[in-house]
Amino acid sequence: MTDISVEVCGLRLRNPTMLASGVLDETARSMLAVAKSGAGAIVTKSIGIEPRSGHPNPSVVELEDGLLNAMGLPNPGIDLFSKEVKEARKGGVPIIGSVFGGTEEEIAELAGMMAEAGADAVELNLSCPHAKGYGAELGSSPERVETSCRLAKRACGVPVFAKLTPNTSYIAELAKAAERGGADAVVAINTLKGMAIDPEAGMPILGNRFGGLSGPAIKPVGIRCVYEIYESVEIPVIGVGGVTTGRDAVEYIMAGAQAVQLGTAVWIRGEKVFREVCREISQFMKENGYDSVKEMLGVAHSGRH
Ligand code: DHB
Repeated sequence: MTDISVEVCGLRLRNPTMLASGVLDETARSMLAVAKSGAGAIVTKSIGIEPRSGHPNPSVVELEDGLLNAMGLPNPGIDLFSKEVKEARKGGVPIIGSVFGGTEEEIAELAGMMAEAGADAVELNLSCPHAKGYGAELGSSPERVETSCRLAKRACGVPVFAKLTPNTSYIAELAKAAERGGADAVVAINTLKGMAIDPEAGMPILGNRFGGLSGPAIKPVGIRCVYEIYESVEIPVIGVGGVTTGRDAVEYIMAGAQAVQLGTAVWIRGEKVFREVCREISQFMKENGYDSVKEMLGVAHSGRH
């Protein structure tokens, strides 16, 4: 197989696929299983200071071309989760600890605790589209994104990734703010805020009414965001949103992503998706004369050199 290893912010990945936050990443056991199934890195479930039970059911709706979910950031809290991070590192792939918080200070404190627990990098979830007080309000403000990144960088000695919301018209501005704050990379995109209504019942399906749309339906939005961000900042971009096949991953890489995250794809194709997507990327490279993932990076901006 062609060499598809990449290096992102000093993290060496055997391939450019990562498990996205929120899927099979709340226990060491499931993260170890994903590591075994071929993922290049793992992003944990988003963790807060205190345990949270999340939103009332139903919390997920299956749609034609994706999923709509409003889990409500359920998680065991950082103290309990630290053990899982330590254990998950035995899988031999980088563990990226995702954190959320209500204030810049809380996010930074959690980033420090995640690093302390052994995470190889920290991903700031600045972009949950619906959990009130956590995410979108803070993450839609360039100033608050900048401060969150600055404080998180101060609190931990590992790379800090800022996961940005697509639910604004200015994601490139948010990326620039993250860069000013010292973020090592930006992750784009989080889910798109959406809603589904049951016509017979005449009411919203989700317990929380609103939720985040993921999966193939949002891929063109993710590609556009990564493309715009790549032209606006110098720091690496990690692409996420509807990556289901090797060709999807290649699209993101050509838009400017150094690595891609898969979430809903695991639900669509199963855990074997990591190996399959890697095989598909290799196949594409062979057929199109690319020798490394780096050679494909950002080519959509200037055509192939
Ligand atoms: C949740 C959080 C997210 O960041 C997201 O994109 C979707 C759902 C949640 O826990 O509800």
